[in-house]
Amino acid sequence: MPTPTHDPEHFEPRWLERSLDRYYTWGLVFMVILIAAFPLYKLREPDLRAEAKTARQQEYVATGSTQFATNCASCHGENGTGGTAPTLNSSQFLTQTTDEQMSLIVAGGISGSDMSAWGIDYGGALTDQQILQIVTYIRSLEADAPSIPDWRRGAKAP
Ligand code: HEC
Repeated sequence: MPTPTHDPEHFEPRWLERSLDRYYTWGLVFMVILIAAFPLYKLREPDLRAEAKTARQQEYVATGSTQFATNCASCHGENGTGGTAPTLNSSQFLTQTTDEQMSLIVAGGISGSDMSAWGIDYGGALTDQQILQIVTYIRSLEADAPSIPDWRRGAKAP
């Protein structure tokens, strides 16, 4: 007669029942953990997204500032403070102009003026992302922008 490979005691119904109960209990515990973890993650998600957005915003402002100094400051003045072209660092300009308007003007230019088209689609050198970075930079000036009613003529802050 062959010797049994398993301890026969383990096949007793009561042992099996207790073993199954243990699996059910742990299964339930993990399910509860998962169910609880999901809303907790969802709760934190807007924070994570806001942080990512702020970080991107700061990065765009920095890159846009460099782009502005290279491409735009010769006419619009250092940091948009005015010159031969409109003063962009002006509360009047910034409250009256949306980001979309700025992007369109920068991309397509203003015909019959020195403001040429900068967007690649219009024969310029800047990608949509670079224009977005420049516009994000110009928008970042709004919080401290001085009042310059004569901004269209490139007036300096008093
Ligand atoms: C060669 C000079 C020159 C350069 C370089 C230049 N601009 Fe201009 N820009 C102008 C002039 C001039 C105007 C005004 C045109 C008009 O209204 O007839 C203007 C207008 C604008 C306006 C619209 C302002 C308004 O009147 O509402 C924006 C925005 C602008 N430029 C952004 C830029 C940005 C961003 C860059 C760099 C990528 C740039 N410009 C480079 C000359 C220039």
